Amino acid sequence: MELSEAILRRRTANGPFLPDPVSIEHQHRLMQAAARAPSHFNSQPWRFALVTDPSLRARIGAIAGETMAQLIAEGTFFRRYRKYFRFSRGEMDERRDGVFVDKLPAALRPFAGYALSPFGVQIMRRLGVPRILGRDNEKLVASSPLLLAACLTREEYRPGELAAFYSVFGLAAAMQNVWLLVTELGMGIQFVSTPLEIPRARARLEALLEVPDDLVLMAIFRLGYLPPDRPRPRIDWSSRHRKRLSQFVYRNTFRTPEPDRPAKDTAP
Ligand SMILES: Cc1cc2nc3c(=O)[nH]c(=O)nc-3n(C[C@H](O)[C@H](O)[C@H](O)COP(=O)(O)O)c2cc1C
Repeated sequence: MELSEAILRRRTANGPFLPDPVSIEHQHRLMQAAARAPSHFNSQPWRFALVTDPSLRARIGAIAGETMAQLIAEGTFFRRYRKYFRFSRGEMDERRDGVFVDKLPAALRPFAGYALSPFGVQIMRRLGVPRILGRDNEKLVASSPLLLAACLTREEYRPGELAAFYSVFGLAAAMQNVWLLVTELGMGIQFVSTPLEIPRARARLEALLEVPDDLVLMAIFRLGYLPPDRPRPRIDWSSRHRKRLSQFVYRNTFRTPEPDRPAKDTAP
């Protein structure tokens, strides 16, 4: 696959993967791709755990499910992320960022307009939505044949210092390499953020993964081979929309937006 094709086809996978284990060859190729990323002074501050043990995956899945349910039930998720949700095509077409919620479970559709308000959260709780979404998330994570835990060394990740930014930048570059190679290998990858959004869950996860004191857990991903048919999940949080050039690129100084060219420059 050409690099430009992998860049255009790269996506967040939010459905189930095939049950087939990810071959050791592919796991190692992904890690070697990560290692090719740039890092400040070639410090290579990233450390990864390839989690394939089924009981460990099940326990991480349980934490992912519980945290998803908790964040939804408490309203934290929507308070934190409300600003990214778009409920109309018009708003999406204008801003071209965030997530277009064009697919809601039937039970929630009548409440779409205020689904993210405290009242909406109350209704969701009454309908058992947090539990349903938690269970979905647990299943997705636990059934993924490969989980990837990404850490940074504390020696480089020193919050408040420039090295922290540089090391996060390096880890992001490493993960983008992984993400692109995943695309070429016919695999999918998804960020599993919820366990790291609740300090107690993060601590449980670090204990499970036996993260040593000199590392800090930064992110968890689930990976696997993609099935041929990919039905959209109950709630689809991802989006293909991208800003137009004139919305994020400037010429010379940040006073002059770059004019848009014909539509082929913009993602659909
Ligand atoms: C720092 C970060 C955290 C993210 N967290 C999640 C997540 O928890 N769950 C998820 O499904 N996607 C997550 N994403 C993926 C974004 O939602 C996704 O990249 C965006 O909607 C664009 O979709 P695409 O990746 O398919 O192009 C995350 C991405 C980044 C960079």
